[in-house]
Amino acid sequence: MSEPMSDELLSAIADPAERAEETTLRPRRLLEFIGQPRLKEHLEIMLGAAAQRGQAVDHLLFAGAPGLGKTTLACIVAAELDVGLRITSGPALERAGDLAAILTNLDDGDVLFIDEIHRLPRAVEEVLYPAMEDFQLDIVIGKGPSARSIRLDLPRFTLVGATTRSGMITGPLRDRFGFLARLDYYEADDLVAILVRSAQILGVPLHADGASEIGRRARGTPRIANRLLKRVRDYAEVRSDGEIDVETARAALALFEVDDLGLDKVDRAILHTLCVTFAGQPVGLSTVAVSVAEEPETVEDVYEPFLLKQGLIRRTPRGRVATPSGYAHLGLTAPAAVASLFDRD
Ligand SMILES: Nc1ncnc2c1ncn2[C@@H]1O[C@H](COP(=O)(O)OP(=O)(O)OP(=O)(O)O)[C@@H](O)[C@H]1O
Ligand SMILES: [Mg+2]
Repeated sequence: MSEPMSDELLSAIADPAERAEETTLRPRRLLEFIGQPRLKEHLEIMLGAAAQRGQAVDHLLFAGAPGLGKTTLACIVAAELDVGLRITSGPALERAGDLAAILTNLDDGDVLFIDEIHRLPRAVEEVLYPAMEDFQLDIVIGKGPSARSIRLDLPRFTLVGATTRSGMITGPLRDRFGFLARLDYYEADDLVAILVRSAQILGVPLHADGASEIGRRARGTPRIANRLLKRVRDYAEVRSDGEIDVETARAALALFEVDDLGLDKVDRAILHTLCVTFAGQPVGLSTVAVSVAEEPETVEDVYEPFLLKQGLIRRTPRGRVATPSGYAHLGLTAPAAVASLFDRD
């Protein structure tokens, strides 16, 4: 691999060994899950209470940027409750029947995980409402005048939904979750702890200064931290003695074009589009996407959240603009018009 890859690319083409490693690195129990202390506490209480009552847990919705641990938490919920886990995703459930088949095959207490739940087709979503609320399934048998609707009882399952776009979840669906959790970007200390844990599992000699260097550039995201760790490990094995200290980490990250803030080539291409190509004019999402040769969804879900959080870009009603910090990051000075736009607030 010669360049950093987006998460989507990674999941689409990463070799099976690398994907298997992601599974190995995934914490299995709540105790191993690092960071997000408030969310962890809420889950501990909810799972503990449900276990005491011997009941299924309320439906849970996890929202947050890619790689922050939504799938990990869904697996942890099932493991902590010691129940079965069924995994599917919004786009995989094309027809109402697909969901009905899964629901009728669940056991009492099971966790049903629907990833990318904001991409559930509307007809399928409507089957989910009575299933979530009353544990009932309405199915229509036959067609035309002889069609009959029958109602089936479902086991008391727990739905865990995950979304990178909480804004795209419809009101009725959102209202049926008993608990909504937003995963935040991780603190530097947590990322270091995650890296130390991963290095232990992978058997990589990681020094404290190497861990902070990688953690600092991991964009607050565990998946990116783990990915950078593996690239730095490759570099350390080939170019030096295999140990990861701060010098090795810096040299490796420079080679893989991950800069000081953790921005990769695509992040910088987005900034370049806003600052140079369009010279400070607000730019629409699809134009940004075309300029950096990515899908609009990838730009919006994977790249923009961190650039926004770092205050490097801003969304305005007329489009995306780079902030003066965005210009500064590329070593440029913001034009007066842009600077004055941001002076006002
Ligand atoms: N709190 C954590 N502690 C340790 N490792 C973590 C933590 N959260 C996530 N990870 C690591 O990051 C990887 C990515 O996490 P996960 O797949 O759960 O993210 P996600 O939010 O489901 O992402 P996506 O939106 O792309 O599906 C996991 O394989 C795991 O190794
Ligand atoms: Mg996931």
